[in-house]
Amino acid sequence: SPASGGGTFARPRSAGMVRPIRPRRNRRADWARRLVRETVVTPDDLIWPIFLVAGKGVREPVATMPGVVRHSVDEAVRAAAEAAGLGIPAIALFPYTDPALRDAKGSQALNSDNLVCRACKAIKDSVPEIGIITDVALDPYTSHGHDGLLEDGRILNDATVEVLVQQSLVQARAGADVIAPSDMMDGRVGAIRAALEAEGMIDTQIMAYSAKYASSFYGPFRDAIGSSATLVGDKRTYQMDFANSDEALREAELDIAEGADMIMVKPGLPYLDILRRLKDRFAMPTFAYQVSGEYAMICAAGERGWMDRDRCMMETLAAFKRAGADGVLTYFAIDAARMLNDA
Ligand code: PBG
Repeated sequence: SPASGGGTFARPRSAGMVRPIRPRRNRRADWARRLVRETVVTPDDLIWPIFLVAGKGVREPVATMPGVVRHSVDEAVRAAAEAAGLGIPAIALFPYTDPALRDAKGSQALNSDNLVCRACKAIKDSVPEIGIITDVALDPYTSHGHDGLLEDGRILNDATVEVLVQQSLVQARAGADVIAPSDMMDGRVGAIRAALEAEGMIDTQIMAYSAKYASSFYGPFRDAIGSSATLVGDKRTYQMDFANSDEALREAELDIAEGADMIMVKPGLPYLDILRRLKDRFAMPTFAYQVSGEYAMICAAGERGWMDRDRCMMETLAAFKRAGADGVLTYFAIDAARMLNDA
Protein backbone atom coordinates (compact mmCIF):
# COMPACT_ATOMS: atom_id res chain seq x y z
CA SER A 1 0.00 0.00 0.00
CA PRO A 2 1.16 3.60 -0.44
CA ALA A 3 1.34 3.98 3.35
CA SER A 4 3.95 1.27 3.68
CA GLY A 5 5.82 2.59 0.67
CA GLY A 6 5.31 -0.57 -1.37
CA GLY A 7 3.15 0.89 -4.12
CA THR A 8 0.19 -0.90 -5.59
CA PHE A 9 2.20 -4.04 -6.24
CA ALA A 10 4.10 -4.62 -3.04
CA ARG A 11 7.05 -6.91 -3.68
CA PRO A 12 7.47 -9.94 -1.45
CA ARG A 13 10.81 -9.61 0.30
CA SER A 14 13.07 -12.25 1.66
CA ALA A 15 16.59 -11.85 2.99
CA GLY A 16 16.65 -8.30 1.68
CA MET A 17 16.24 -9.44 -1.96
CA VAL A 18 13.48 -7.85 -4.06
CA ARG A 19 11.71 -10.63 -5.97
CA PRO A 20 10.35 -9.51 -9.33
CA ILE A 21 6.73 -9.73 -10.37
CA ARG A 22 6.95 -12.17 -13.31
CA PRO A 23 4.94 -11.19 -16.41
CA ARG A 24 7.01 -13.75 -18.33
CA ARG A 25 4.90 -16.58 -16.88
CA ASN A 26 2.18 -15.80 -19.42
CA ARG A 27 4.72 -15.94 -22.25
CA ARG A 28 6.37 -19.19 -21.22
CA ALA A 29 4.57 -21.58 -23.56
CA ASP A 30 2.81 -21.35 -26.88
CA TRP A 31 -0.53 -22.37 -25.35
CA ALA A 32 -0.23 -19.61 -22.74
CA ARG A 33 0.67 -16.99 -25.32
CA ARG A 34 -2.33 -18.00 -27.40
CA LEU A 35 -4.57 -17.93 -24.33
CA VAL A 36 -3.72 -14.33 -23.40
CA ARG A 37 -3.38 -12.98 -26.94
CA GLU A 38 -5.36 -9.74 -27.34
CA THR A 39 -5.36 -9.36 -31.10
CA VAL A 40 -6.08 -11.89 -33.80
CA VAL A 41 -5.82 -11.29 -37.55
CA THR A 42 -8.11 -13.26 -39.84
CA PRO A 43 -8.80 -13.09 -43.58
CA ASP A 44 -11.98 -11.16 -42.65
CA ASP A 45 -9.73 -8.21 -41.79
CA LEU A 46 -8.23 -7.90 -45.26
CA ILE A 47 -9.10 -5.75 -48.26
CA TRP A 48 -7.06 -6.41 -51.39
CA PRO A 49 -6.31 -3.43 -53.67
CA ILE A 50 -5.88 -4.58 -57.27
CA PHE A 51 -4.72 -2.70 -60.36
CA LEU A 52 -6.53 -2.85 -63.69
CA VAL A 53 -5.21 -2.45 -67.22
CA ALA A 54 -6.68 -2.75 -70.72
CA GLY A 55 -6.45 -5.99 -72.70
CA LYS A 56 -7.20 -9.64 -72.22
CA GLY A 57 -5.18 -12.25 -70.35
CA VAL A 58 -2.81 -9.53 -69.15
CA ARG A 59 -0.89 -9.74 -65.88
CA GLU A 60 1.66 -6.97 -66.09
CA PRO A 61 4.19 -6.71 -63.24
CA VAL A 62 4.56 -3.40 -61.41
CA ALA A 63 8.33 -2.90 -61.17
CA THR A 64 8.31 -1.08 -57.83
CA MET A 65 5.93 -3.55 -56.16
CA PRO A 66 7.37 -7.08 -56.35
CA GLY A 67 4.60 -9.66 -56.81
CA VAL A 68 1.96 -7.06 -57.74
CA VAL A 69 0.52 -7.04 -61.26
CA ARG A 70 -1.92 -4.96 -63.29
CA HIS A 71 -4.84 -7.19 -64.31
CA SER A 72 -6.94 -7.02 -67.43
CA VAL A 73 -10.64 -7.32 -66.57
CA ASP A 74 -10.79 -11.08 -67.20
CA GLU A 75 -7.75 -11.58 -64.96
CA ALA A 76 -9.31 -9.30 -62.33
CA VAL A 77 -12.30 -11.64 -62.25
CA ARG A 78 -9.97 -14.58 -61.62
CA ALA A 79 -8.15 -12.57 -58.94
CA ALA A 80 -11.46 -11.71 -57.27
CA ALA A 81 -12.44 -15.37 -57.26
CA GLU A 82 -9.13 -16.30 -55.70
CA ALA A 83 -9.57 -13.64 -53.01
CA ALA A 84 -13.12 -14.79 -52.27
CA GLY A 85 -11.91 -18.39 -52.06
CA LEU A 86 -9.39 -17.38 -49.42
CA GLY A 87 -12.07 -15.64 -47.36
CA ILE A 88 -11.10 -12.06 -48.20
CA PRO A 89 -14.30 -9.99 -47.90
CA ALA A 90 -13.55 -7.17 -50.33
CA ILE A 91 -11.29 -5.88 -53.08
CA ALA A 92 -10.50 -2.29 -54.07
CA LEU A 93 -10.08 -1.40 -57.75
CA PHE A 94 -7.49 1.02 -59.20
CA PRO A 95 -7.10 1.56 -62.96
CA TYR A 96 -4.05 2.21 -65.08
CA THR A 97 -5.45 4.46 -67.80
CA ASP A 98 -3.93 4.55 -71.28
CA PRO A 99 -2.04 7.90 -71.43
CA ALA A 100 -3.85 8.66 -74.71
CA LEU A 101 -7.16 8.63 -72.78
CA ARG A 102 -6.01 11.05 -70.06
CA ASP A 103 -6.95 14.70 -70.28
CA ALA A 104 -6.95 17.80 -68.10
CA LYS A 105 -10.46 17.11 -66.81
CA GLY A 106 -10.09 13.37 -66.25
CA SER A 107 -13.04 12.70 -68.55
CA GLN A 108 -12.56 8.93 -68.49
CA ALA A 109 -13.65 8.95 -64.84
CA LEU A 110 -17.19 9.54 -66.07
CA ASN A 111 -17.16 6.95 -68.84
CA SER A 112 -19.59 4.25 -67.75
CA ASP A 113 -17.61 1.80 -69.87
CA ASN A 114 -14.20 2.60 -68.34
CA LEU A 115 -11.97 -0.11 -66.88
CA VAL A 116 -13.29 0.22 -63.34
CA CYS A 117 -16.94 -0.02 -64.45
CA ARG A 118 -16.28 -3.00 -66.71
CA ALA A 119 -14.41 -4.74 -63.91
CA CYS A 120 -17.26 -4.02 -61.45
CA LYS A 121 -19.81 -5.59 -63.77
CA ALA A 122 -17.68 -8.61 -64.65
CA ILE A 123 -16.77 -9.31 -61.03
CA LYS A 124 -20.37 -8.86 -59.84
CA ASP A 125 -21.47 -11.37 -62.50
CA SER A 126 -18.90 -14.03 -61.65
CA VAL A 127 -18.02 -13.46 -58.00
CA PRO A 128 -21.12 -11.87 -56.45
CA GLU A 129 -20.05 -12.74 -52.91
CA ILE A 130 -17.08 -10.36 -52.81
CA GLY A 131 -17.45 -6.69 -51.88
CA ILE A 132 -16.21 -4.19 -54.45
CA ILE A 133 -14.69 -0.88 -53.35
CA THR A 134 -14.00 1.78 -55.97
CA ASP A 135 -11.73 4.77 -55.57
CA VAL A 136 -13.17 8.21 -56.23
CA ALA A 137 -10.54 10.72 -57.37
CA LEU A 138 -9.42 11.93 -60.77
CA ASP A 139 -5.70 11.10 -60.65
CA PRO A 140 -5.81 7.92 -62.76
CA TYR A 141 -7.51 9.93 -65.49
CA THR A 142 -5.89 13.39 -65.51
CA SER A 143 -2.97 14.37 -67.70
CA HIS A 144 -1.51 16.36 -64.77
CA GLY A 145 -1.88 13.51 -62.24
CA HIS A 146 -3.91 15.48 -59.70
CA ASP A 147 -7.02 14.18 -57.92
CA GLY A 148 -9.01 17.27 -58.89
CA LEU A 149 -9.50 19.89 -61.56
CA LEU A 150 -6.54 22.21 -62.03
CA GLU A 151 -6.88 25.88 -62.95
CA ASP A 152 -3.97 28.33 -62.95
CA GLY A 153 -1.99 25.98 -60.76
CA ARG A 154 -4.79 25.62 -58.19
CA ILE A 155 -7.00 22.62 -57.45
CA LEU A 156 -10.63 23.76 -57.63
CA ASN A 157 -12.65 22.34 -54.75
CA ASP A 158 -16.33 22.74 -55.55
CA ALA A 159 -16.02 22.14 -59.29
CA THR A 160 -14.06 18.97 -58.53
CA VAL A 161 -16.74 17.78 -56.09
CA GLU A 162 -19.33 18.04 -58.86
CA VAL A 163 -17.25 15.72 -61.03
CA LEU A 164 -16.57 13.34 -58.14
CA VAL A 165 -20.30 13.06 -57.52
CA GLN A 166 -20.80 12.00 -61.15
CA GLN A 167 -17.87 9.58 -60.90
CA SER A 168 -19.43 8.02 -57.79
CA LEU A 169 -22.79 7.58 -59.50
CA VAL A 170 -21.15 5.95 -62.52
CA GLN A 171 -19.34 3.50 -60.24
CA ALA A 172 -22.38 2.75 -58.09
CA ARG A 173 -24.49 2.08 -61.19
CA ALA A 174 -21.79 -0.32 -62.42
CA GLY A 175 -22.21 -2.31 -59.21
CA ALA A 176 -19.65 -0.90 -56.79
CA ASP A 177 -20.71 -1.73 -53.23
CA VAL A 178 -18.51 0.84 -51.53
CA ILE A 179 -17.55 4.27 -52.82
CA ALA A 180 -14.19 5.36 -51.44
CA PRO A 181 -13.38 9.04 -52.01
CA SER A 182 -9.60 9.43 -51.78
CA ASP A 183 -9.43 12.97 -53.17
CA MET A 184 -9.59 15.01 -49.93
CA MET A 185 -11.81 17.74 -51.38
CA ASP A 186 -13.98 19.53 -48.80
CA GLY A 187 -17.61 18.49 -48.74
CA ARG A 188 -17.35 15.55 -51.10
CA VAL A 189 -18.77 12.91 -48.77
CA GLY A 190 -21.94 14.90 -48.17
CA ALA A 191 -22.38 15.65 -51.86
CA ILE A 192 -21.88 12.01 -52.84
CA ARG A 193 -24.26 10.79 -50.12
CA ALA A 194 -26.96 13.25 -51.23
CA ALA A 195 -26.61 12.18 -54.87
CA LEU A 196 -26.79 8.48 -54.00
CA GLU A 197 -29.92 9.08 -51.94
CA ALA A 198 -31.49 11.11 -54.72
CA GLU A 199 -30.89 8.22 -57.13
CA GLY A 200 -32.39 5.72 -54.70
CA MET A 201 -29.03 4.02 -54.16
CA ILE A 202 -29.54 3.97 -50.43
CA ASP A 203 -27.46 0.84 -49.83
CA THR A 204 -24.21 2.04 -51.35
CA GLN A 205 -21.65 2.42 -48.58
CA ILE A 206 -19.09 5.19 -48.36
CA MET A 207 -15.62 4.46 -47.03
CA ALA A 208 -14.05 7.89 -46.59
CA TYR A 209 -10.34 8.38 -46.84
CA SER A 210 -10.78 10.73 -43.89
CA ALA A 211 -7.21 11.20 -42.79
CA LYS A 212 -5.19 11.00 -45.95
CA TYR A 213 -1.76 12.54 -45.66
CA ALA A 214 0.45 14.08 -48.34
CA SER A 215 2.92 11.23 -48.22
CA SER A 216 6.03 10.06 -50.01
CA PHE A 217 4.92 6.49 -49.32
CA TYR A 218 2.58 6.58 -52.34
CA GLY A 219 5.47 6.51 -54.83
CA PRO A 220 5.09 2.93 -56.12
CA PHE A 221 1.29 3.32 -56.45
CA ARG A 222 1.77 6.29 -58.73
CA ASP A 223 4.01 4.08 -60.88
CA ALA A 224 1.34 1.38 -60.89
CA ILE A 225 -1.37 3.72 -62.17
CA GLY A 226 1.09 5.65 -64.33
CA SER A 227 0.65 9.06 -62.71
CA SER A 228 4.13 9.59 -61.25
CA ALA A 229 5.80 10.76 -64.45
CA THR A 230 3.05 13.27 -65.17
CA LEU A 231 2.30 14.65 -61.70
CA VAL A 232 2.68 18.42 -61.74
CA GLY A 233 3.86 19.66 -58.34
CA ASP A 234 2.55 17.90 -55.23
CA LYS A 235 -0.75 17.28 -53.43
CA ARG A 236 -0.15 19.33 -50.31
CA THR A 237 -3.02 21.77 -50.86
CA TYR A 238 -5.52 18.95 -50.39
CA GLN A 239 -3.84 16.00 -48.67
CA MET A 240 -2.99 16.54 -45.00
CA ASP A 241 0.26 17.79 -43.49
CA PHE A 242 1.96 14.82 -41.85
CA ALA A 243 2.79 17.00 -38.84
CA ASN A 244 -0.89 17.15 -37.86
CA SER A 245 -3.07 14.96 -35.69
CA ASP A 246 -5.98 17.10 -34.36
CA GLU A 247 -6.77 17.94 -37.99
CA ALA A 248 -7.47 14.24 -38.60
CA LEU A 249 -10.18 14.36 -35.93
CA ARG A 250 -11.83 17.33 -37.61
CA GLU A 251 -11.69 15.66 -41.04
CA ALA A 252 -13.17 12.41 -39.72
CA GLU A 253 -15.89 14.25 -37.81
CA LEU A 254 -16.97 16.01 -41.01
CA ASP A 255 -16.96 12.81 -43.06
CA ILE A 256 -19.07 11.00 -40.48
CA ALA A 257 -21.52 13.90 -40.21
CA GLU A 258 -21.75 14.00 -44.01
CA GLY A 259 -22.68 10.34 -44.23
CA ALA A 260 -19.59 8.11 -44.26
CA ASP A 261 -20.21 4.52 -43.15
CA MET A 262 -16.54 3.78 -42.60
CA ILE A 263 -13.44 5.90 -42.19
CA MET A 264 -9.84 5.28 -43.15
CA VAL A 265 -6.34 6.40 -42.24
CA LYS A 266 -3.64 6.47 -44.87
CA PRO A 267 -0.72 5.67 -44.96
CA GLY A 268 -0.80 2.96 -42.32
CA LEU A 269 2.19 2.07 -40.18
CA PRO A 270 3.65 5.58 -39.69
CA TYR A 271 0.17 6.77 -38.67
CA LEU A 272 -0.93 4.24 -36.02
CA ASP A 273 -1.32 7.13 -33.55
CA ILE A 274 -3.94 8.69 -35.82
CA LEU A 275 -5.72 5.36 -36.19
CA ARG A 276 -5.94 4.94 -32.43
CA ARG A 277 -7.22 8.48 -31.90
CA LEU A 278 -9.93 8.11 -34.54
CA LYS A 279 -11.07 4.73 -33.26
CA ASP A 280 -11.21 5.93 -29.66
CA ARG A 281 -12.99 9.17 -30.52
CA PHE A 282 -15.60 8.01 -33.02
CA ALA A 283 -16.02 4.24 -32.52
CA MET A 284 -16.65 3.93 -36.26
CA PRO A 285 -15.62 1.06 -38.52
CA THR A 286 -12.07 2.29 -39.08
CA PHE A 287 -9.58 1.05 -41.66
CA ALA A 288 -5.89 1.47 -42.30
CA TYR A 289 -4.32 1.55 -45.76
CA GLN A 290 -0.93 -0.13 -45.76
CA VAL A 291 0.18 1.78 -48.84
CA SER A 292 2.41 0.89 -51.76
CA GLY A 293 5.60 2.30 -50.24
CA GLU A 294 5.10 0.32 -47.05
CA TYR A 295 4.63 -2.82 -49.12
CA ALA A 296 7.68 -2.03 -51.26
CA MET A 297 9.93 -1.43 -48.23
CA ILE A 298 9.12 -4.76 -46.64
CA CYS A 299 9.50 -6.62 -49.95
CA ALA A 300 12.79 -4.90 -50.77
CA ALA A 301 14.32 -5.65 -47.38
CA GLY A 302 13.03 -9.20 -47.66
CA GLU A 303 14.62 -9.65 -51.09
CA ARG A 304 17.96 -8.52 -49.69
CA GLY A 305 17.69 -10.91 -46.79
CA TRP A 306 17.71 -8.00 -44.36
CA MET A 307 14.30 -8.83 -42.88
CA ASP A 308 11.88 -11.76 -43.04
CA ARG A 309 9.19 -10.55 -45.44
CA ASP A 310 6.38 -12.82 -44.29
CA ARG A 311 6.99 -12.33 -40.59
CA CYS A 312 7.16 -8.56 -41.02
CA MET A 313 3.92 -8.73 -43.00
CA MET A 314 2.07 -10.58 -40.22
CA GLU A 315 3.56 -8.31 -37.55
CA THR A 316 2.37 -5.17 -39.33
CA LEU A 317 -1.14 -6.58 -39.80
CA ALA A 318 -1.40 -7.39 -36.10
CA ALA A 319 -0.09 -3.89 -35.31
CA PHE A 320 -2.92 -2.31 -37.32
CA LYS A 321 -5.52 -4.33 -35.44
CA ARG A 322 -3.89 -3.63 -32.08
CA ALA A 323 -4.01 0.10 -32.88
CA GLY A 324 -7.76 -0.12 -33.47
CA ALA A 325 -8.25 -1.01 -37.14
CA ASP A 326 -11.27 -3.08 -38.08
CA GLY A 327 -9.49 -4.02 -41.27
CA VAL A 328 -6.53 -3.24 -43.50
CA LEU A 329 -6.21 -2.46 -47.17
CA THR A 330 -3.01 -4.26 -48.09
CA TYR A 331 -1.20 -5.56 -51.15
CA PHE A 332 -0.20 -8.50 -48.92
CA ALA A 333 -3.84 -9.62 -48.64
CA ILE A 334 -3.52 -12.79 -50.72
CA ASP A 335 -0.24 -13.90 -49.14
CA ALA A 336 -1.51 -13.12 -45.64
CA ALA A 337 -4.82 -14.91 -46.17
CA ARG A 338 -2.95 -17.97 -47.45
CA MET A 339 -0.70 -18.03 -44.41
CA LEU A 340 -3.63 -17.53 -42.04
CA ASN A 341 -5.64 -20.29 -43.70
CA ASP A 342 -2.69 -22.71 -43.60
CA ALA A 343 -1.84 -21.97 -39.98
C1 PBG B 1 -5.35 8.48 -55.42
C2 PBG B 1 -4.86 7.44 -54.51
C3 PBG B 1 -3.52 7.27 -54.10
C4 PBG B 1 -3.48 6.11 -53.36
C5 PBG B 1 -4.78 5.59 -53.29
N1 PBG B 1 -5.63 6.44 -54.00
C6 PBG B 1 -2.29 8.04 -54.43
C7 PBG B 1 -2.21 9.46 -54.22
O1 PBG B 1 -2.99 10.06 -53.49
O2 PBG B 1 -1.33 10.05 -54.84
C8 PBG B 1 -2.22 5.53 -52.77
C9 PBG B 1 -2.21 4.08 -52.48
C10 PBG B 1 -0.87 3.50 -52.28
O3 PBG B 1 0.18 4.18 -52.24
O4 PBG B 1 -0.83 2.27 -52.15
N2 PBG B 1 -6.27 9.37 -55.03
